[in-house]
Amino acid sequence: MFLANVLSDSAYQPIKAPYEEWYEFMRSIEFWLPDSEWHTKTHSARVLLLALLIGHQKGLSDEEMEKLGYAAVFHDSRRLDDGIDKGHGGRAAEYYNDYCHEGNLPFDE
Ligand SMILES: [Fe+2]
Repeated sequence: MFLANVLSDSAYQPIKAPYEEWYEFMRSIEFWLPDSEWHTKTHSARVLLLALLIGHQKGLSDEEMEKLGYAAVFHDSRRLDDGIDKGHGGRAAEYYNDYCHEGNLPFDE
């Protein structure tokens, strides 16, 4: 489990279980820059953790939290470089679409 030390802090307890579930799910996602210094799964895990924490603090619904989770784990999956890489969000969205359809998962446009 990544970020275990952070998750032991009481402030993170409400999102600990969903974070761990999303982190497991993220293992199945293929990243195009697996050796990147900046945009690997560890980066996406940090984004996921903070997104879930902010979403929880804002009182988002389960449905909204699910959207946040998907966005966090897929958002940098289709980067071609570590710069601005215009279009990487759109490519990630296409991958999310394909991933959901191939895995018979519900797709949220
Ligand atoms: Fe990112």
